[in-house]
Amino acid sequence: SNQMSLPPRPQLFDFHGVPMTRYFTDNWENVQNFQAKPDDILIATYPKAGNTWVSHMVDLLHFGTESSKNQTSPLIYHKIPLLELNFTPIQPESPNAPSVFKGTEMLEKITTSPRIIKTHLPLKFLPKSIWEQNCRIIYVARNIKDSVVSLFHFERMTFMHPEPGEWTSYLQRFLEGNIVFGSWYDHVNNYWEKKQTYSNIHYMFYEDMIEDTGREFDKLCSFLGLSPSAEEKKDILSCVMFENMKKNNKVNYSAVKGMDYKMSSFMRKGKVGDWINYFTVAQSKEYDEDYKKKMKNPTLTFRTEI
Ligand code: A3P
Repeated sequence: SNQMSLPPRPQLFDFHGVPMTRYFTDNWENVQNFQAKPDDILIATYPKAGNTWVSHMVDLLHFGTESSKNQTSPLIYHKIPLLELNFTPIQPESPNAPSVFKGTEMLEKITTSPRIIKTHLPLKFLPKSIWEQNCRIIYVARNIKDSVVSLFHFERMTFMHPEPGEWTSYLQRFLEGNIVFGSWYDHVNNYWEKKQTYSNIHYMFYEDMIEDTGREFDKLCSFLGLSPSAEEKKDILSCVMFENMKKNNKVNYSAVKGMDYKMSSFMRKGKVGDWINYFTVAQSKEYDEDYKKKMKNPTLTFRTEI
C-alpha cells in the first residue's frame, strides 16, 4: 500500500538549543560551509508562513511566467532547494528527479542566476557566507495562530516531520517551541532584529500579501531592483493566485512521495483567520496571553485577521 512506501517519522532532538530532526541536520558541515554568491536570494521563513508563494513569485520575476506554465519545467523544490535538506526518498519521484535531496549539492548544480534558496533555519544557523556576500534575504512572517494551524495539518501529512499528535497537546508544544526549527517567537523576532544591523533583509507578512498582493509585489520588486511591465505584473499575479498555484503541479508538491494527501493538501486553504475554526475561546486566550508576555518588541506586530 501507499503507507508502506512512506519513510519512518524522524525524532526531534536538541540541536545547539533548537529542536531539529536529522533530515535538516545530517548535512550540517556542508550547510555551514555553503558558499553563497553575491546575487543569491535567500527566502527564509518559519514553516508554513508562505515560502512557496513568495518563492514562486521571485522565480517568475527572474525567469518569466513561461516557466510556470511549461510542463517540462522543473518542480519548485528542485529549482529552489531547501538549503538544510538531506533526504533520501524510499522511491524515486521520477526518472529525472534527484535520488538524494541534499540542498547544498542541488544549489551547487544550479547554473542560472540568481539562485533562489529556501530555508527554514533560525537566524543563528545561517551559513556565514550569506552575511559575507551581503546576500538579499526575503523573510516572510505569518501570525502565530494561523501558523500553528497550518503546521499542524502539514505535520499530519508529511513524513519528514515528527507525528504532531492531537491538537490540544500540539498547541501547547508549539507555544513551548518544541517544534522542528524551534520557537516561532525566536524565529520571527530574530530576523526582525537583524534588520537593524543588516539592511539587505526585506521583511514581509503573509497577512499583507493576502490583503493586497499587488502592493506587496511592488515592494518586493523594488527590494530586488526589478521593474516588470504592467503586463508582466498582471501575468505573475495571476500565476501566484492561490487557486492557480493549487492546481499547478510544479508548485503544489503533489509529486512528493513522503506526503499523505489523504490527511491534508500542501495548498490547504490560503487564508488569514482560519485559526478561528480550530481554537476554542480558552485556547485563543491562552495564546493571546503568551503572546503578550513573549513579544517584547513593539515595532513587530501581527494581525490574526484582516
Ligand atoms: P494554509 O495551510 O493555511 O493553507 P509554506 O509554503 O511556507 O509551506 O506555507 C504554506 C502555506 O501558505 C499554506 O497555508 C498554503 O496554503 C499557503 N499558500 C501557498 N500558496 C499560497 C497562495 N498563492 N496564496 C495564499 N496562500 C498560499
